Amino acid sequence: MAASNSNTSIIFLYTFLVLLLLQTQISNSLTCSSQKLSKNKLYKQCSDLPKLDSYLHWTYDSSKSSLDIAFIAPPAKPDGWIAWAINPTSTGMVGSQTLVAYKQSDGSMTVKTYNITSYKDVLLGKIGFQVSKMEAEYVDGVIKMYASIVLPQTYGKVVNHVWQIGPSLKNENGDLNVHGFAADNINSVGKLDLMSGSTGGSSGGGGTISTTTTSGGGISSKLKKKNIHGVLNAVSWGMLFPIGAVIARYLRVFEAADPAWFYLHVFCQLSGYAIGVAGWATGLQLGKQAQGFGNTLHRNIGITLFTFATLQIFALFVRPKKDHKLRFYWNIYHHGLGYSVLVLGIINVFKGLDILQPLKKWKTSCIIFLCVLAGIVLVLEVLTWVVVLKRKSDKTSKGGYNGANVS
Ligand code: HEM
Ligand SMILES: *[C@@H]1O[C@H](CO)[C@@H](O)[C@H](O)[C@H]1NC(C)=O
Repeated sequence: MAASNSNTSIIFLYTFLVLLLLQTQISNSLTCSSQKLSKNKLYKQCSDLPKLDSYLHWTYDSSKSSLDIAFIAPPAKPDGWIAWAINPTSTGMVGSQTLVAYKQSDGSMTVKTYNITSYKDVLLGKIGFQVSKMEAEYVDGVIKMYASIVLPQTYGKVVNHVWQIGPSLKNENGDLNVHGFAADNINSVGKLDLMSGSTGGSSGGGGTISTTTTSGGGISSKLKKKNIHGVLNAVSWGMLFPIGAVIARYLRVFEAADPAWFYLHVFCQLSGYAIGVAGWATGLQLGKQAQGFGNTLHRNIGITLFTFATLQIFALFVRPKKDHKLRFYWNIYHHGLGYSVLVLGIINVFKGLDILQPLKKWKTSCIIFLCVLAGIVLVLEVLTWVVVLKRKSDKTSKGGYNGANVS
């Protein structure tokens, strides 16, 4: 039974790796400087925003504190919304003084303003600056939103801005349905230097825009938490548990490795569990901040993993003796949970990687590690069967053998 179990998990693993490797990223190669805006609207500066295939064109007159903008982005779905905002109080969504464009039920486009006071309160109505000439158009899957703004002097010449795209509206009053929570949706924030943009004529390399990695901001500390969460869980579920399982399955066959394999196995699983619990706790905190939006699958797998792993630790303490008649059932329980933790753990590490989207090298390292481990498993599996079959034939010829049990 253990043999067929491990085959399924190997197949699972490989399917996953292939899917991951096939994943391609399509990026929009247009730059803002080559974009045509309708009605011959001209702006002095523009920038290719680093996330969500979005672009900002603007003209800023510092003497009047006036800012004309065009914001261009593809809504998440054809009947969705696009939003651009200045945040005078922090670096994220909360506090944003927001302009949102979408298609109304009669087919015409509209622009509305929203005062975002919490992740739950996106309030249609007055915002912290004067806005006029709000217009929008829908062209080839992209919404172009225009507005003229008078900024309060207190905002300064470098402002925090955020942008977002959403799938749909709740109703005709302009209540929005929530956007996605992919890495692009979470990192669509930055600083906008109103004075020094790339000029509209040259290629907009986005020199004025930075996704915030500066200190002190809510986003960067949140990102740091997410990175810690990722590393802890990758080490625990992605490395220690699989290594511990490999040790248990293959080392025990060799009599010389008894009982060393058992202590190594317990060491891997216990330290994996400790680190995994720490990772889980950071995950709970992140989940609380997101207030029940998004990433449900990642969260549910995480909770299941924690439960299974905890049951697995309990199993250690209620282990019947090797020759006890209940040991057979205990083995089924322990192996079943063990393989589930293994497969779910790896799935969730990759789910997490997809949500966080760190530098490519992290995902690549994880894939290489698992490939190497899978290679080792393959070799050991073959060796094990050779050893076991040899013992079987020795046993039938000599009789009376009662060595290690491979199940
Ligand atoms: C119904 C409307 C909305 C809901 C319920 C909502 C909810 C949320 C939640 C819960 C997060 C945190 C996700 C996480 O930390 O994993 C978030 C992030 C974010 N949202 Fe929204 N959102 C809405 C509308 C908007 C709009 C209109 C904008 C455009 C300005 C926006 C921009 C952002 C950005 C840039 C982030 C990432 C930065 C941050 O966490 O503050 N959201 N949203
Ligand atoms: C936006 O909402 C906050 C919190 O309710 C409030 O303090 C602020 O005055 C509002 N801004 C505007 C322009 O109404």
